[in-house]
Amino acid sequence: MISDPAGQSATSSPPQASVNPLGDELAGNRTAQPCALVIFGATGDLTKRKLVPSLMGLAKDGLLPASFAVVGFARRPWSDEHFRNEMLEGVGSFGRSDTRASFEALSDSFSYHQSDFSDAAGYERLAERLDEIDQQLGTKGNRLFYLATPPSAYSVILENLAKSGLSRESEGRFSRIIVEKPFGRDIATASALNEQIRQGFDENQVFRIDHYLGKETVQNILALRFSNGIFEPLWNENFVDHVQITVAESIGVGSRGGYFEESGIIRDMIQNHLMQVMTLIAMEPPSALTADAVRDEKVKVLRAIRSFAPEEIDDATVRAQYERASFEGTEVNGYLEETGVAADSNTETFAAVRLCVENWRWAKTPFFLRSGKRLPRRVTEVAIHFKQPPHHLFPDASPKPNVLLIRVQPDEGVALRFGSKVPGPDMRIRDVRMDFQYGTAFGAETADAYERLLLDAMLGDGTLFARRDEVEEAWRIVDSIVAGWQQSSARPATYAAGSWGPNAAGRLLGEGREWRKP
Ligand SMILES: NC(=O)c1ccc[n+]([C@@H]2O[C@H](COP(=O)([O-])OP(=O)(O)OC[C@H]3O[C@@H](n4cnc5c(N)ncnc54)[C@H](OP(=O)(O)O)[C@@H]3O)[C@@H](O)[C@H]2O)c1
Repeated sequence: MISDPAGQSATSSPPQASVNPLGDELAGNRTAQPCALVIFGATGDLTKRKLVPSLMGLAKDGLLPASFAVVGFARRPWSDEHFRNEMLEGVGSFGRSDTRASFEALSDSFSYHQSDFSDAAGYERLAERLDEIDQQLGTKGNRLFYLATPPSAYSVILENLAKSGLSRESEGRFSRIIVEKPFGRDIATASALNEQIRQGFDENQVFRIDHYLGKETVQNILALRFSNGIFEPLWNENFVDHVQITVAESIGVGSRGGYFEESGIIRDMIQNHLMQVMTLIAMEPPSALTADAVRDEKVKVLRAIRSFAPEEIDDATVRAQYERASFEGTEVNGYLEETGVAADSNTETFAAVRLCVENWRWAKTPFFLRSGKRLPRRVTEVAIHFKQPPHHLFPDASPKPNVLLIRVQPDEGVALRFGSKVPGPDMRIRDVRMDFQYGTAFGAETADAYERLLLDAMLGDGTLFARRDEVEEAWRIVDSIVAGWQQSSARPATYAAGSWGPNAAGRLLGEGREWRKP
């Protein structure tokens, strides 16, 4: 972790971030070195809706470096003034409460740089601009680049950053890059992108973002497993029957039909978010909470999952598309009727897969991952289903198995389901639940995942970012599923919009198990 006291020797007085109102206990007292953040794609949706509001969340909590600047890089002919107004609007609409004031205090350190990504001269001018900012605001030559652009633009930006020397680090000056998802569309494209990144940046300068890893509840998986004595002894195939990981969305593809046709839910959600969460559930305890120790263990999980042979695909996966139905009081389109979607499209809007982690701990415990659009509600959860007791002492009871439920969103928290005696003269057993809720337990406003990840990148801490080998291993598995689907003559199954997916998903689980309906 980098511990330089931020901005002590700044040459002028930069706008000051506010003092952390949460106190060090919640904020962890982490302060990053002075730096300039260059956002490629600064006029886009992600910058306005997520990145700048998250930066202001950090400012509000006193976590931004005291010397800090943002340079927005995009094509539109905006002035600094226009850029600041747009960002202020974004902070007002999408930021945490009271972050407008943080923006107003820092707005002078926001500037706009107009250039096409392919124009080499634009990078020369950017380098000069950054040198000026170092002089004016004391950002000390430290640069953090954020690729908030369509993936098709990554290549030309990476090439120009390398050519212009902006990617180079020198004594006491860092140069880092954050890359947005999607990171490739298969192992070949991901690996080509990694190679191109390597032309300008070493692996420790690269931060591949998966915003799920920035969510409090996802990080709480590590805390739950490794700071408590009671869970880990049960965390293996002797006690866990199976694990269900669900990421459900209630929305359809909307105006993104064209984009979605190229990816499908397996590339859009399962390759990244669900597999990342799964590795945290399945990994061995790392020797330390360092970036490489954690990621070494995560990647071992992925390596322990075999690629599928085409003939295994029908048994191990289910894919489906939503069909027209009445949902939340309105008639909604089926996937094939959405704008930008081919009438005979095979792209899946729902997928469920059974993954087997072939190692000592999990040999007989399947992991079921499911994700879909137009499901009944937006929810992300991990459910650890424990085995039934070996002997049924209560013949009249049919208790459900114990489930440890990690609710990632909404209602972030952890619940444990277990059987309890119903009051009265009979020995009747019913399921009850112990429930921990993040919001009420800590009473703090949950920060957006991007806040944590932006701060970690400024600190140079890659623990919550995907390493090159993780991304490529996840693609290896997903590629084998996609190849099996492409070779299959069967069309995707269907499910009514607003339902929990196709009936076929049930058979994936096997005898005696059922999908949760959160
Ligand atoms: N939006 C989200 O909530 C979200 C969530 C997760 C991940 N992501 C990922 O984040 C990335 C950005 O998404 P977005 O929704 O913000 O995209 P977007 O709204 O389409 O923005 C694209 C940005 O790139 C700029 N741009 C494109 N071509 C350019 C060129 N040749 N030269 C200079 N600037 C150029 C655009 O500038 P001009 O318009 O000024 O030309 C604009 O600022 C994507 O990879 C996306 O998958 C987005």
